[in-house]
Amino acid sequence: MQDPAHHGVVVEPSVPGSPAIEVRDLHKTYKLGEIQVHALRGISLAVEAGEFVAIMGMSGSGKSTFMNLIGCLDRPTRGTYCLDGRDVSRVSKRDRSRIRNQKIGFVFQGFNLLPRTSALENAELPLLYAGVGRKQRIERASEVLRAVGLAGRERHHPSQLSGGQQQRVAIARALINNPSILLADEPTGNLDSRTSVEIMEIFQRLNQERRLTILLVTHEEDIARYAHRMVTFRDGRVQRDTPVADRSLAARILPTLGAADVEAAEEENHEGA
Ligand SMILES: Nc1ncnc2c1ncn2[C@@H]1O[C@H](COP(=O)(O)OP(=O)(O)OP(=O)(O)O)[C@@H](O)[C@H]1O
Ligand SMILES: [Mg+2]
Repeated sequence: MQDPAHHGVVVEPSVPGSPAIEVRDLHKTYKLGEIQVHALRGISLAVEAGEFVAIMGMSGSGKSTFMNLIGCLDRPTRGTYCLDGRDVSRVSKRDRSRIRNQKIGFVFQGFNLLPRTSALENAELPLLYAGVGRKQRIERASEVLRAVGLAGRERHHPSQLSGGQQQRVAIARALINNPSILLADEPTGNLDSRTSVEIMEIFQRLNQERRLTILLVTHEEDIARYAHRMVTFRDGRVQRDTPVADRSLAARILPTLGAADVEAAEEENHEGA
């Protein structure tokens, strides 16, 4: 049964002037039977609204665990997490899901799109779950698909899109609820280098134009250089936290990279479109 105390609870508005994200001494310990895995061992950091932060670090250093906590998919074992000035470290599962729907968009390495389902339908999925009417869903989904450069591809299924285009659909889906924070866990991990820069161009544009706060996990320093700041994890702690000097600008780099393989992929996938 649902806790009646949570009926009608609305996520509180943000506290003006607070960082978008502020964590203090964040710990996460996974228990696997007798074994305890200390995935995070005291992370403290603040991310201002409109910042674009790259999270780096070796495999197993706790990056995805951290993203899951920031995305309110999980709760810390110890420590606090304030989102827009509100402590969300101890809120119920139900409220966490509400916060997620209102404030957070996720993009993953593997795109996680539904096959045999159009780009439009994939993008509008969160609205469908939220009970938004068809007309509004189509309008909003068309708008976010346009924002990621996919106008004209609304009816394509994932198999009829290139990898970069599939990732754009996933970004559109993440944007559909107009979140203030975008969390991306290795979004370019499956993409070639030009396509990765195209995705970074979208992120930089969203960051600048919509003042979207972005946390991006990547193994590649080249990709991290599109962010404002690089935070490196090691064994569940912050090892380094430095501004990116001489930041890469995707919009300037793209024209120097030559023709896209995107066109080739489009040709290939044209039949049945
Ligand atoms: N659900 C889980 N249950 C138990 N242990 C987990 C769980 N998720 C992660 N871990 C462990 O926590 C540690 C941190 O994992 P995490 O996935 O956060 O690393 P990561 O930095 O994202 O690594 P990668 O770069 O390989 O994605 C690892 O030792 C991992 O085995
Ligand atoms: Mg990971």
